[in-house]
Amino acid sequence: MGFLSVLSMAHKWIAERVAAGDAVIDATAGTGVDTLKLAELVGAKGTIYAFDVQQEALEQTKARLDRQLEPDKHPQLYLLLRDHALMVEALDDALFGRIAAVMFNLGYLPGGDASIMTKPASSIQALEAALTLLRAGGIVTCALYPGHAGGDSEAAAVEAWAAALPSDRGQVVMYRQLQRTTAPYLIAIEKRG
Ligand SMILES: C[S@@+](CC[C@H](N)C(=O)[O-])C[C@H]1O[C@@H](n2cnc3c(N)ncnc32)[C@H](O)[C@@H]1O
Repeated sequence: MGFLSVLSMAHKWIAERVAAGDAVIDATAGTGVDTLKLAELVGAKGTIYAFDVQQEALEQTKARLDRQLEPDKHPQLYLLLRDHALMVEALDDALFGRIAAVMFNLGYLPGGDASIMTKPASSIQALEAALTLLRAGGIVTCALYPGHAGGDSEAAAVEAWAAALPSDRGQVVMYRQLQRTTAPYLIAIEKRG
């Protein structure tokens, strides 16, 4: 049978903590797989803020939701062509402490320009911002890709940042296949009350 993929495990942990009507963030919209999952969970009364630095990614995300969701099931969707490191500046102050989940899927756009990829410093800045925005009991998931150049050092930097996070800010867990050091893996943080 095998264990869940990293993506499926991220979706499972998210689904356990997100309910209809919630406000959530996709920090790396890409082709919209995670945004779609979030949309299914928050429903028509929910709100999604989807970040990407590429217009192409935001268009793919919108197209996926248009294709795969019934018209009456669409949440309020804000497509933000911005660096996720600027997440705090991009969102209204009223949302601070009210976001149920923030998903990160680091790396580059599948099928797109592989030179446009997430970077350790801005990813960590964005993860810090995500923790500020999250409500108590909310979750951040971060899929990491150590198998490509740049992805390895980014994964190491994010892992070191997460391991050093004071436990009164959040509980950090990792989901990883230990025999394959280049396989994608997942870090999640549940915010403390
Ligand atoms: C691995 S993909 C995300 C996959 C996506 N979750 C999906 O379902 O297809 C990473 C995305 O991060 C975007 N990205 C790179 N740097 C970024 C940044 N600083 N802020 C926001 N998005 C960024 C890329 O353009 C790319 O679309």
